[in-house]
Amino acid sequence: MTMDRTTPQPEIVVPEAEDFLPLLGTDHVELIVGNAKQSAYYYMNAWGYQPLAFKGLETGSSDSVSYVLRQDKITLVLTTPLVSDGPLNDHLNRHGDGVKAVALWVDDAEKSWKETTSRGAVSAFPPETREDADGKVVLSAIETYGDTIHVFVERKAYNGLFLPGYQPWNPSGGSPALGLKFIDHMVGNVGWGEMNTWCEFYAKVMGFAQLISFDDKDISTDYTALMSKVMSNGNGRIKFPINEPAEGRKKSQIEEYIDFYQGAGVQHIAVATDNIIETVTELQGRGIEFLQVPGTYYDTVLDRVGEIDEDLEPLRDLGILIDRDDEGYLLQIFTKPVVDRPTMFFEIIQRKGAQSFGKGNFKALFEAIEREQALRGTL
Ligand code: FE2
Repeated sequence: MTMDRTTPQPEIVVPEAEDFLPLLGTDHVELIVGNAKQSAYYYMNAWGYQPLAFKGLETGSSDSVSYVLRQDKITLVLTTPLVSDGPLNDHLNRHGDGVKAVALWVDDAEKSWKETTSRGAVSAFPPETREDADGKVVLSAIETYGDTIHVFVERKAYNGLFLPGYQPWNPSGGSPALGLKFIDHMVGNVGWGEMNTWCEFYAKVMGFAQLISFDDKDISTDYTALMSKVMSNGNGRIKFPINEPAEGRKKSQIEEYIDFYQGAGVQHIAVATDNIIETVTELQGRGIEFLQVPGTYYDTVLDRVGEIDEDLEPLRDLGILIDRDDEGYLLQIFTKPVVDRPTMFFEIIQRKGAQSFGKGNFKALFEAIEREQALRGTL
């Protein structure tokens, strides 16, 4: 079967008048980390992000340092406090390295803040204008699950590299980009019984619609279970699956996350590539560790997903998983946690028509995660 690679995103019918929060895309993701300089080196040299901008003591930022990295449409900001107390320290102390801000690109940051706070969102900070010689940016922000926030970024009057206050950053070294294109979806883990609360938040406060749901019958092994719903904005560019733990015989990976992150937070960031075999080959060569499913997965996978364009052998060698839905198929692979606590990880995904999230792989994946949990003594 030949798959149409240009299959459009599924239309979620939200009448124009009701999309009160038009989102142009993910603007950037900010992580609070223990050592931004060394994290930047990791994201540059292992993941192929390119250095873009910097703020710190040299730019007049006396309490924190931030490095901005970019690969195609993905922008990461790595921030570390330079002082011994303050909100950044609280975040770091409580959560370890993790995502603080999922920033969304909008046309009007003031309207975005008003529309969401008037529907019940808690303000993280009200609209503020920041200016430099390259123009002005308007930022505002609301709180979401845990200590995570959504920043609205309006940059139509700005020509600078990133945001006012940053200067160009051109360190020596670095490694070539490896084909990461954009953020496909970002998953939040929330506590027991909180999935529906946060799905309702995205529906009511941000005008999102539910794409798909999975319950513990879909996603369970002998030991663990979770429930998940996928929320999407009107134009389908922003997709936020929300997971909560479900009762199992042993501790689920979601519970383990919540325990170590000490609350709700971003579990994984899925980044899209047009050539997952090349991207993952390169990542593995640079030392990134991925979850491995048993070789027997590949004995039957084509019976389940049918014909695919790729040879099975490189997929098996790399441990790339395959799933199919009504619209096509997808290839995906998950890293082990990329921080010290068993919390945040990345997914690499290549969509060939499919708009779903790899449900057919969940069982094999969970069993792989449980083997890792057993090694950590947290199962
Ligand atoms: Fe995912």
